[in-house]
Amino acid sequence: MANLIVLGAQWGDEGKGKIVDLFSESFDLVVRYQGGHNAGHTVYIGEKKFVLKLIPSGILRPGVKAVIGNGVVIDPAALMDEIGQLESAGIDVRSQLLISNRAHVIFPFHRMVEKVGEAREDRVAIGTTSRGIGPCYEDKIGRRGIRMADLVSPQGFEQMYRMLCEDKMTLATAFRVSEVIDFNKILEQYRQFTEKLRPMVCDSASYVNRAILDGKKVMFEGAQGTMLDIDHGTYPFVTSSNASAGGACTGAGVPPTRIDGIIGVSKAYITRVGAGPFPSEIHGEQGDQIRKAGNEFGSVTGRPRRCGWFDVPLLRYTATINGFDSMIITKLDVLDDLTEIPVCVGYEIDGKAITDMPATNEEVSKIVPVYETLPGWKSPTKGITDLNQIPKAAMDYLKFLEKQTGVEVGCVSNGPERNETIIVPGSKLAALLA
Ligand code: GDP
Ligand code: IMO
Ligand code: MG
Repeated sequence: MANLIVLGAQWGDEGKGKIVDLFSESFDLVVRYQGGHNAGHTVYIGEKKFVLKLIPSGILRPGVKAVIGNGVVIDPAALMDEIGQLESAGIDVRSQLLISNRAHVIFPFHRMVEKVGEAREDRVAIGTTSRGIGPCYEDKIGRRGIRMADLVSPQGFEQMYRMLCEDKMTLATAFRVSEVIDFNKILEQYRQFTEKLRPMVCDSASYVNRAILDGKKVMFEGAQGTMLDIDHGTYPFVTSSNASAGGACTGAGVPPTRIDGIIGVSKAYITRVGAGPFPSEIHGEQGDQIRKAGNEFGSVTGRPRRCGWFDVPLLRYTATINGFDSMIITKLDVLDDLTEIPVCVGYEIDGKAITDMPATNEEVSKIVPVYETLPGWKSPTKGITDLNQIPKAAMDYLKFLEKQTGVEVGCVSNGPERNETIIVPGSKLAALLA
């Protein structure tokens, strides 16, 4: 068994939570390496539904250590809330969860800054989750951020906090923000959170590296997806962290040499929440049908997700950036009723075929997708546990995706439950999980 990175190959919501929860049975540690409570990872265990935002999905397996890495941004109020929900479901969070002392802290005024940016008349709104994620990462890169280590330090915190508040007050005045922020009240609240979180705060990079040296198996859980990566996504319509595989090393403090496999999670189609270009988007009634069949509504904000056909050039691009060893195709069952399934197999701009993913929003918006249409299978795949029972047309569809993208399909998910998953026997993924 190997140390694996499991991450989103599209624009997020690929079903990472379900997969990480399932696989975590055979891992000792699950580490989140970036993002914050903008993520929403849904896991069904029987009748029970869990939506994990900050805490790695491994927390649902007794005995597995769940680590929030240094690359994550933490809103302590959101974290306390999530801990409370899991504890009331009987999960022993305090003995399983570790929080990096180098992770940066989100404050309520980060949301104020985000609102200002999103509302500017001269800018196109990104359609963020309004959680203060971007502004917190701005402070991190600007070298004025406050980290968990500062929060738990009795001396340093108040001074750092007051300096950061002064910056935000200047901004609020400049942009004539009417919202009143009670900085002293926030300070007091954060002191209370700190007392509860302190026992879980540690040098997580050191912990994870020691665990690896001791022969423990680690899974790194990505949030968002590669097309939302700050460097490689559809900038500026992206999130503010490195969701791609490289982010796992910096966001967990683990050397690339410790990683044995990189697994991309992709839907059998594709979705996107928020603004930004989307070449294979399905408009109109058919898009509504997929949204309904796949229940494509944001797990964090409840916003309807934009739906599109599987995009091969996009997957090839994310496979290149991440070096996928294997790909997991989720939500195959959502396509069960379709007579025909178009797949985007190429991109054209102004009548010319393009092979590389364009860098600018203007160019990506001009992409005209080239489609190849495959026959549907029109029979239920949900609940099938044996690959041999999957209808031939569905197998042909999966083989087509594999051939076109150049990445093996190592696992197929055909329902939200743990047992609605088929690992392809003899695949590279099966070997990595063995
Ligand atoms: P994540 O952010 O990548 O973890 O994905 P989300 O949890 O935001 O969105 C995926 C949604 O699809 C969740 O509601 C899952 O319960 C659901 N889901 C995951 N895999 C499957 C599948 O194979 N079939 C169906 N029908 N639903 C799935
Ligand atoms: P998971 O982990 C889908 C999107 C937002 C917006 C953009 C920037 O569940 O796959 P942000 O609040 O991060 O500054 O918003 O990124 N976004 C996601 N879309 N799934 C997510 O997470 C997302 N996290 C952020 O909708 O377009
Ligand atoms: Mg999600």
